[in-house]
Amino acid sequence: MAQQVKGVIAPGKNEPVRVETILVPDPGPGEAVVRIQACGVCHTDLHYKQGGINDDFPFLLGHEAAGVVETVGDGVTDVAPGDFVILNWRAVCGKCRACRRGRPWYCFDTHNARQRMTLTDGTELSPALGIGAFAEKTLVAAGQCTKVDPAAAPAVAGLLGCGVMAGIGAAINTGQVGRGDSVAVIGCGGVGDAAIVGSRLAGAARIIAVDIDDRKLETARTMGATHTVNSRTTDPVEAIRELTGGFGADVVIEAVGRPETYQQAFYARDLAGTVVLVGVPTPDMKLELPLLDVFGRGGALKSSWYGDCLPSRDFPMLIDLHQQGRIDLAAFVTEEIGLGDVEKAFARMHEGDVLRSVVMFG
Ligand SMILES: NC(=O)c1ccc[n+]([C@@H]2O[C@H](COP(=O)([O-])OP(=O)(O)OC[C@H]3O[C@@H](n4cnc5c(N)ncnc54)[C@H](O)[C@@H]3O)[C@@H](O)[C@H]2O)c1
Ligand SMILES: [Zn+2]
Ligand SMILES: [Zn+2]
Repeated sequence: MAQQVKGVIAPGKNEPVRVETILVPDPGPGEAVVRIQACGVCHTDLHYKQGGINDDFPFLLGHEAAGVVETVGDGVTDVAPGDFVILNWRAVCGKCRACRRGRPWYCFDTHNARQRMTLTDGTELSPALGIGAFAEKTLVAAGQCTKVDPAAAPAVAGLLGCGVMAGIGAAINTGQVGRGDSVAVIGCGGVGDAAIVGSRLAGAARIIAVDIDDRKLETARTMGATHTVNSRTTDPVEAIRELTGGFGADVVIEAVGRPETYQQAFYARDLAGTVVLVGVPTPDMKLELPLLDVFGRGGALKSSWYGDCLPSRDFPMLIDLHQQGRIDLAAFVTEEIGLGDVEKAFARMHEGDVLRSVVMFG
């Protein structure tokens, strides 16, 4: 029997989101129903609402979530009812070419639930990133559930499900930041700050935070930035070069997703340095760079989806580091809100008031 629960849907392009009753089917083979305890509001949810990802409205938003497995379908062995899990959008298949080559973080056949959640009139919902967790319960593929230490607070654990993992992974996995490196992070929202935390964890000697909002720069400092640059008033490329002995940073992480900030990242890195694009551009954006500069400056231009993470490897490890006090993931939670407050949270995100608003479920 499908269950009726409340969830936040984006009905159409740029229309306000609203709380609706949704139907969650019983889990089929390989699926699980998870009772959500907390789900963060990520900029990608706003991209969905604005039609920046695709046009498959209505969306069931929310994808940075932790909760407890309620029921599982046939053949599910890795998780069981009662397990505390973080939901992930990379349930690797183990069989595709990327998986077989030992690079499962590039898996191009990741699993989602086969059945669809619907509105009460039968309209099928598109769950954001195959998750849809601004809902009291959601249906996912069992592989999207990663078990972690149940002592961790749900509001904190859930953030690893997307933005915080994307940022930490952009630094550690994609950018391969190492001990003594200089790093610049452009855009210090939840994702950029996580890249700062990751860079510090990896032993970066100099971490330069760049943003257009002084409040964001202040927070970036508490996260581990050693220097800050307001790019509204200061040329960030010049400033980063000055702060790195005239060379540019070893790794520059772009966490905004715009051509102009990408261009800053490109020129602010040292020769043969690495640029990591973790910000998500919209389909209309174009980049123009002199090809000779791309050639002449060498190095690596990479993009980072989900911080090139492997949830089963990285989530439990990062939760352990948090529980030991070696990284502070709680610092990302600016406010805890209710299910009806998502639209307001988008506005606050837009105003730059929050790192993460987290929807809490009773
Ligand atoms: N690649 C991935 O796997 C992944 C995962 C999650 C989120 N994202 C993307 O990462 C980006 C950041 O997400 P977020 O949740 O941190 O968003 P956010 O809105 O919290 O943060 C964005 C930050 O960028 C700053 N900013 C805006 N314009 C700027 C500019 N021109 N120069 C410098 N700073 C500028 C803002 O002041 C803000 O601090 C988004 O594009 C999001 O979609 C990517
Ligand atoms: Zn695969
Ligand atoms: Zn996200």
